[in-house]
Amino acid sequence: MKFSRCNGLHGEVTIPGDKSISHRSVMFGSIAKGTTEIHNYLQGADCLSTISCFQKMGIEIENRGDIVLVHGKGLRGLSRPTEVLDCGNSGTTTRLISGILSAQDFDVTLTGDASIQKRPMKRIMEPLSLMGASIESINGNGCAPLKISGRKLHGISYTSKVASAQVKSAILLAGLYADGETRVTEPYLSRNHSEIMLKYFGADVRTEAAGSATAESANSFTPATTRQADSSTPADVSGRTPLSAGSATAIIQPAEELHGNLVEVPGDISSAAFFLCAGLMVPNSEILIRNVGINPTRAGILNVISDMGGDITLLNEHAGSGEPTADILVRSSSLHGTVIGGAVIPTLIDELPVIAAMACFADGTTVIRDAAELKVKESDRIAVMTENLTAMGADVTATDGGMIIRGGRPLHGAVIDSHLDHRIAMTFAVTGLCADGETDILGAECVNISCPRFYEDLKRLIR
Ligand code: S3P
Repeated sequence: MKFSRCNGLHGEVTIPGDKSISHRSVMFGSIAKGTTEIHNYLQGADCLSTISCFQKMGIEIENRGDIVLVHGKGLRGLSRPTEVLDCGNSGTTTRLISGILSAQDFDVTLTGDASIQKRPMKRIMEPLSLMGASIESINGNGCAPLKISGRKLHGISYTSKVASAQVKSAILLAGLYADGETRVTEPYLSRNHSEIMLKYFGADVRTEAAGSATAESANSFTPATTRQADSSTPADVSGRTPLSAGSATAIIQPAEELHGNLVEVPGDISSAAFFLCAGLMVPNSEILIRNVGINPTRAGILNVISDMGGDITLLNEHAGSGEPTADILVRSSSLHGTVIGGAVIPTLIDELPVIAAMACFADGTTVIRDAAELKVKESDRIAVMTENLTAMGADVTATDGGMIIRGGRPLHGAVIDSHLDHRIAMTFAVTGLCADGETDILGAECVNISCPRFYEDLKRLIR
């Protein structure tokens, strides 16, 4: 797929459903009693893998496109699949489903594509084993394929080294089935979609932040107009609830049953990020991005854009199924470098590739640190970003925990290896719009994982 410099982006774009929330709606709907009706379910390959895994465990799921109906059978309603569960490219499917499977009364084998078979699973194997589950990495390398034998589980109090919503959610899901309270502490609050939706489905789950009550308030939404920012922590651009700068603990009680519900999935801010950055980077642009989830545990990119001097306005803020949502108006801006690290990292981890590309067009230096997790995503995103931006003429240095980007150099087109990583492919489509000559993205079709209409939507905005 080829891209070249464009003179402006104009118009409106509606973002497909949030990947994290879509996965959870099918998973939690499958283990809830009754029907869960999901609107705006993401029809990307990852979320289709989740549907197929639960169908193989006897759950009737009607995928009608925009609406998905999950006929849940309750916490004990899954049946043993007759084949291996294939999670495709999806880390969220693999890790979250492992929490559920740890408590079932059957054995199951989970696997995925070449990328999934390289991604670290010890981070869930360790806590789930402490709860009493039996999980084996079949090749002995701490990666999938995994053989999981369900057991009776105990509640634990676990401190995770990484701020990872996938780890936290796997433990919380196992905690639904445990014999007592389960607590997960992470160094910084990661995305809290599981906590919001589990609560919405009737579970007893809450969050405590070290030294403040802000993490719990992040689990519920109040429109900006009725809220006051806490002066001790940085308020974000819209005045939404600020995040605590320290560790957070999620606490769940065992559940009798969850109850299916209506889920309105907001647009995915991680997909919106490409349009946001494109609108800022391409001169003479103005784009209205409709229906974007702006949960503060996900929306760190809005803070970074504002720190870099970007012109964005949130409109029409509202909440659907407990998740804050807004339209975002973005206009091309002259940007300056910034430092991105610490508590904000988990709130924008998937957006760092496109933020790094945007930093090439900012004056001065941008430092991304505390983001070593980038190395264990669908590709090693520190290495792949550094390699590809350098190929386009950027001044980028990879570090252990991120990148240093010295902005202001003009970029030129290059052949870009996406490493079949959807976020890399989308990042370079946008970068190609601001570079001289032609940018050719190899493996471009991988955007199908999270944003199947991406190229059509982007090309429609080009003037
Ligand atoms: C996700 C959490 C993040 C993110 C991933 C989706 C989720 O991963 O990178 O794309 O849905 O919980 P980690 O929790 O491993 O950081």
